[in-house]
Amino acid sequence: MSDNGGRGSQHHAAIAFEQVDKGFNGRKVLDKVSFSVARGEVLCILGRSGTGKSVTLKLMIGLHNADAGKVLVEGEDMATLDEDGLVKVRRKMGYMFQSAALLDSFSLSQNLAMPLHRLDPTKSPDGVRSAVASTLRQVGLEKDGEKMPATLSGGMQKRAGLARALILRPEILLVDEPSSGLDRITAGEIDDLLIKVKTERHTTMVIVTHDIHGARKIGDKFAVLDQGRLLAFGAPKELDGRQDSRLQQFISER
Ligand SMILES: Nc1ncnc2c1ncn2[C@@H]1O[C@H](COP(=O)(O)OP(=O)(O)OP(=O)(O)O)[C@@H](O)[C@H]1O
Ligand SMILES: [Mg+2]
Repeated sequence: MSDNGGRGSQHHAAIAFEQVDKGFNGRKVLDKVSFSVARGEVLCILGRSGTGKSVTLKLMIGLHNADAGKVLVEGEDMATLDEDGLVKVRRKMGYMFQSAALLDSFSLSQNLAMPLHRLDPTKSPDGVRSAVASTLRQVGLEKDGEKMPATLSGGMQKRAGLARALILRPEILLVDEPSSGLDRITAGEIDDLLIKVKTERHTTMVIVTHDIHGARKIGDKFAVLDQGRLLAFGAPKELDGRQDSRLQQFISER
């Protein structure tokens, strides 16, 4: 073991929750939740509405702090990071919010260019344009860059949100309900896109989803949240073998 306490070593998980509690206004939302995501692995978080799935993602990027326990990203304890440290960790992460989170008064391309400018203000206009174009192509919106966010369809907005999360080529991608409200075909296209990112870039992903069919295609692990507790965590095959009817309600394809 090196004397830096394992910082920067290859041994720690991409993301780890250790006995995490989180509540709001005295109401507990997450209760002693522990799990980890290895590098390059895809975790799907399943569970009913209001069980703390989005809160779990927000803890990962430090939009919320745990009340107790630890949230570790690449071995760094999110609670102990200063502003600089937080910025550094967040740079490794792309976040697709449940709603697209684009700025309404800017075109899709302008929205995508913003994080590039912020990361590197000296980046050439050509460099920005080509990075935007290739990300738009990746999500199948190559013809839509000049459109304003309000004029995009629901499915296009989801893909735009994904483009926004992918533009900086993050090592860790956090995705909140990529396919909710979409038809099966469009949802399938988003799944295929995420699978492509997984296989081509080995991006670590955490995907919150209600779509068990999609989760089974892409997830290496499932985490099932139920009333603030981690009901189950493991590989889908392993969970399929458990005789727990409550768990099976969440993970069977019906
Ligand atoms: N900023 C906040 N302030 C107060 N309460 C919050 C806040 N964020 C989330 N909550 C509460 O925490 C609980 C979990 O919310 P969360 O958004 O994580 O649910 P979810 O599992 O993502 O649900 P859905 O599937 O509907 O998106 C809810 O009761 C919600 O009202
Ligand atoms: Mg949510």
